[in-house]
Amino acid sequence: SPILKQGKFVGSLDCGTTSVRFIVFDQYANIVSQHQSEFPQYYPNPGWHEHDPEEIQETSEECVTQACAKLEEAGWAKESVKVIGITNQRETTVAWSRATGKSLCKAIVWTDSRTKNTVAHFEHLLSSVGIEVEPGQFKTGEEAVEALREITGLKLSTYFSGIKLRWMIDNYREVQKAYDEDDLLFGTVESWIVYNLTGGVQGGIHVGEVTNASRTLLLNLRTLSWDERLLTFFGFRRSILPKLVSSSEVYGHLSHGPLKGVPIGGLIGDQQGALVGNKCLRQGEAKCTYGTGAFLLFCTGKDIVKSGHGLLSTVAYQPGPGAAPIYALEGSIGVAGSAIKWLRDSMGFIKSASEINTLAASVPDTGGVCFVTAFSGLLAPYWDPGATGLLIGLSSYTTPAHIARATMEATAFQTRAVLESMKLDSHTKLEHLKVDGGMTNGDVCMEILADIGGFDVVRPDMRESTALGSALLAGSAIRLFGWDISKPATLMEVNTKGSRTFNPHMPEEDREKGWTAWLRAVERSKGWDE
Ligand code: G3P
Repeated sequence: SPILKQGKFVGSLDCGTTSVRFIVFDQYANIVSQHQSEFPQYYPNPGWHEHDPEEIQETSEECVTQACAKLEEAGWAKESVKVIGITNQRETTVAWSRATGKSLCKAIVWTDSRTKNTVAHFEHLLSSVGIEVEPGQFKTGEEAVEALREITGLKLSTYFSGIKLRWMIDNYREVQKAYDEDDLLFGTVESWIVYNLTGGVQGGIHVGEVTNASRTLLLNLRTLSWDERLLTFFGFRRSILPKLVSSSEVYGHLSHGPLKGVPIGGLIGDQQGALVGNKCLRQGEAKCTYGTGAFLLFCTGKDIVKSGHGLLSTVAYQPGPGAAPIYALEGSIGVAGSAIKWLRDSMGFIKSASEINTLAASVPDTGGVCFVTAFSGLLAPYWDPGATGLLIGLSSYTTPAHIARATMEATAFQTRAVLESMKLDSHTKLEHLKVDGGMTNGDVCMEILADIGGFDVVRPDMRESTALGSALLAGSAIRLFGWDISKPATLMEVNTKGSRTFNPHMPEEDREKGWTAWLRAVERSKGWDE
């Protein structure tokens, strides 16, 4: 066999909601090799969405193996990969057994809204018993809601992993039994993957990274530690929780596979990963990623900015163990690319996701159709778990093309809604929005976003920012290429490729008319499923 060249690369395992990819980058963020694979989605009941944790793990390992094979085909030794990072769908909840290392039930995916009653139960508990903020001192009602937000940056919602874990313990006998016997381990997807990649039941480490932990409702945003008051409130024993780690440090080494012995140096939730990958590391910089959902993160630097307008405060990243964290304000939109998948898989309007662009471009407007894509309630800034999908304005004139266009507009309207809140909370108006993610590949979608939103949309040429973010954190952990995530200047040479800007062209009057119609439609979709 030919002699393989030795290089210096960093790998990134991106475990998203519908697919996993492993990407090998060089020091300038050029992609040297990659492999992507989809894994099964399970929708056993309305509002339910599950993954098989073992399938996520197997798909991840397959992606690493295939990308390494492609690296060798390109003439590079796999030993060129010096470190890997992992980035993941964030609130998806996994429960597994300490004794066997196997999952105890299917993972509950972040989009899943089955926990509505669990949320209602804790809302009631907040207003009646309240939270014990200081020993013997309880806060109840609105004050308790505020205290919860003060500690976690979040609000009670079906979205967060602590609520999903509570549901699992209360509803699955296996999980309850494991909890009673202290056999239960809880983790979000990064935790599960690291556990398995470092040996699983044979010595695998049980860690949880802080950006992912900041989505559990159990983390104290200031101290970056599990908050005893919340563990008591939700009724969890600490021994089921992973040990908290920063976003950039060597956690352990791969125990098997083609990269056996390679350190894992970066962990980060995928939306925060995209923020880092876009190098939005300073206060005031923002990006929106259009994947399964859409997530707009606005970096607030070392300050935690509290939202009064339906946004979340979250950890953006922690540059190393003990380092001061960087925070962000976030607007989470539950449905974006998944609505296009729905048009393809359930409605049969298109054969491939990219066809939506041609279909939507075949009509000049939606013909009066408005589509509130509230498939699992509405997240930011509306937060209504009872909202359902609503198609309104239909007539005999309506065609699939109008609905396709309205689907894209739904994402654009929600982006505008989040930006309006962000403007009020941060007192900054974004002149342009940096975007990435699968949906941004289509120009039509970008034009609709600029028109509906009324701002410039900047689309970088290299859009694998999520994976790049975890690669930067991993490289930084071993100071590969001199990268140091706490010193943005050391990343200057990374990803200097260009970008394309889409400007709004729609007359202001039409934009405002559309916006008013959207607001009316949202009101009608709220509370349908109560
Ligand atoms: O909060 C959920 C988010 O992490 C999922 O990201 O890229 O799969 O839509 P994505």
